[in-house]
This record gives sequence, structure tokens and C-alpha cells, in this order.
Amino acid sequence: MAQFGTEFRKRYFPHIPDDLIPVNHGSRGLTPKPILEYLDAMNKEHELDPDEFYLIRAKDRYVNQLKSLSEFLKVDYRNLILITHATMAVNCVLRSIPWDFKKDKILIHSSTYRACAYSVDFLHDRFNLQFDVVDILYPMEDDEIVQKFETKLSHTKYKLCMFDTICSMPGVRFPYKELIKVCKKYDTWSLIDGAHGVGLENMDFICELKPDFITSNLHKWFSTPKSCAFIYVDPKHHRLMQTFPISWSYPLNSTKNNKEVEENILIEKFWYVGTINYSAAFCIEKAIEFRKNICGGEENIHEYQKELEKKAIDIVLREFGSGAKFLDNNAHTLNCIGMFNISFPKNEKNTKFIENLSESYDDYRKFKLRCETRMIKEDKTFAPFIAHNNELWVRFSVNIYNIASDYEKSARLVKRVIDKCIEEELE
Ligand SMILES: Cc1ncc(COP(=O)(O)O)c(C=O)c1O
Repeated sequence: MAQFGTEFRKRYFPHIPDDLIPVNHGSRGLTPKPILEYLDAMNKEHELDPDEFYLIRAKDRYVNQLKSLSEFLKVDYRNLILITHATMAVNCVLRSIPWDFKKDKILIHSSTYRACAYSVDFLHDRFNLQFDVVDILYPMEDDEIVQKFETKLSHTKYKLCMFDTICSMPGVRFPYKELIKVCKKYDTWSLIDGAHGVGLENMDFICELKPDFITSNLHKWFSTPKSCAFIYVDPKHHRLMQTFPISWSYPLNSTKNNKEVEENILIEKFWYVGTINYSAAFCIEKAIEFRKNICGGEENIHEYQKELEKKAIDIVLREFGSGAKFLDNNAHTLNCIGMFNISFPKNEKNTKFIENLSESYDDYRKFKLRCETRMIKEDKTFAPFIAHNNELWVRFSVNIYNIASDYEKSARLVKRVIDKCIEEELE
């Protein structure tokens, strides 16, 4: 079996430039070479005889990918939709629901991925859909988070509650299993943003807890190319789902469909929404094979990530220096496999500046852009950060092509850039 680390990177990720230190897998994912080669073949297939491809082959291929994915997820393939990415999926669900804008409400939390929260803002601004926000300030205990949700849910009727498997920034695990149960208790639909889901978390909870809707990217942690994600929809909601964009299958909502169409309604609606490129989605089966046969399965992958993450946390703490903290709670439930967060050390000079960033989103955005551009252009490494609860939390990712020295080098470079940018801001 392949040895993870340096040799693995050379063999399966030779396209990563030698001078790049990739410690930000969490944002977009990186695809192994054999799958990129298959992607090329799929792209070509679209162009050889497009009529034959779209009219004869595409639907079977789509269904085959659903079947492979459903086996991995242990759910019925007829409950799945393939879609490009998590933001699209959240939009698709939220814009499918036949809201009663006079009374329906949504509950989200303050660490919701902004692009997805904007989708709620849109429904509010355009249609006056009401929403509430649960405030999250890390580090928090899971019990406290669940309690905050439960307090809202028990006092107000919400039609839907949206929360994450793993939040984006800081990159921490959310108590999603408990929250699915709490939503059921209050008869509130759950929409789970599992952008960081398959490939990091054990997804058996879908068949065990049966959330109403969940999406997960496959291009982040599951080795497929960009852009590739799925939505799981509980059978009781199949009928309400609408394609995004609205397209050819729209009449299926109003016609009397035969039993077979009804039982496969998500496939019938979603397999064709126009002349789109299916190539990334058609790599799902290959990604599953790669992770099983080349990587030795999910457990093997996670074992490597866990061991390396332990070392990487110590290294980044050491490189950031005195005052740097690892983001964790008392129960040690925040940290996930694959990502960790370290606070940028505060000192006499920079404390006020850093604390202001968590008060002013505009200042934070400007500062972030300045640092990110430098990291990417000048230093060939990039670790995103967020100003949250008076700290700058820097997020590092850990994957099978990484080695310990990646964290030594990247932490040093990231620290230098942030220090320098703060210095310039304070001049
Ligand atoms: C929690 C969360 N939700 C949604 C997204 C959006 O993913 P995508 O850009 O693939 O739609 C991300 C991306 O990092 C994320 O972390």
C-alpha cells in the first residue's frame, strides 16, 4: 500500500508545484493524479458525440455514480442528488421549500458559512422570510451550543434550522448529531451544511438519524475533482425539491406521474438540468476506488491525518511562539480530523489591533485580503484566518500528502506575513 507523505505527494500529486506548501486543503481540496486523468477522459467524452453523450449515456452514468455513492453512505440512491457544490446545494434546498412568508422562520448560527447565510439573507430581503441567529463564541462546549439552539427552538416555531457538520472558520466540529435530534423534538426541519463531511466525518449518522436535508462536498475531502457535491433528501421532501436552475423537469411537479417516476423523482428531476459538464460528478466511483485501493480506506487515511495533526499542532504552537493557543473546549470535541486552529500570539503592540478586527468586519476583510495575497503570491503557502472572539484564529489543514516540515515552514511564513501586515497597518 502507498506510503503517505513525501512519496505519496510525488506519486499521486505531482501536479502540485514543488515550491508550494499546501496546508489549506480545507478550502477547496486537491485531486489525485489518477482521478484528474479520468476527469480528462470524461471531458473528452462530452465532446466526441454530444448528442449520444447527453441523450443516451448521461442518465445511466449519473445513476451509476449515485449508486456507488449511496453504497458508501449506506443510504438509498434515490434519496440523493448530485450537484456542483455546497453553496449551490444550500441555495437549492432553501429555494425549493414552499415557504409561507407570513409565518415561517429559519434558525441559523453566527458561524454559518457566509455564502450560505447570504442565501437566507436573500430570502429575507426579497420575500421577508424571517430568521434568527444563535450566537456562537468559540471555544464553546457542545452542551452550551445545543442548549442555545434548544432555547430558541422551544420558544419559537421554526420551520427549518441550518447548521454545519464542521464549521469553516474557525474549522471546528459542530454538535450536529445532537442538533438533528433536537430539531426532530421540536418538529423543525434540519438542513445540514456538511461542506466538510464525506472524507472527514463518518456519515453513518445520515441513515441512523435521518436529517431532513444534508449536503456534502466531495471535492473537498473525498478526492473528486471540482466541482462535486451531493444532497441527501428525506423521502418525505422529494416532491418539494426543485432543480436549480429551474429546467426541463419542472412539469413533473404538476403532472400525474407513474409509480416508477414517483419513486425516482429526484433522479428524474435532477439528472438533466441543461448542457452542463458532468465530468467531476462522473469521477465519484473512481474517487471511492482510489481511497479504498490506493489509500487503504478511510480509517487508514484518518489515522495518518490524526498522527500528523498532533505533531503539526505542536509545531505551529512552537513557531507562532509564546501566547499562541490551540482552539479546543474542555470536552475536546471541537477539534476535527484534517483541520486545526491556532491563535496568532497577541502582544503589547498588536492586541488592540487584533481585538478590533473581531469587532469590525470591514477592517478584518481588508486586512485578510492583504495578508492572503502576500501569502499566496510571495510565500507559496496559505493558511486562512478569522478574527473571532478577540483572537485571530489561523486554520491549518492536514492531508495524506503533507509531512511535519510543511507546518514548520508554513507557520514561519504565515507568522512573518501577519506580523509584517500588522506592522504596516500600525505605521
Ligand atoms: C461550512 C462550509 N459551507 C459551505 C462551503 C462552501 O463550499 P463550496 O464553495 O464548495 O460551495 C464551505 C467552504 O469552505 C464551508 O466550509
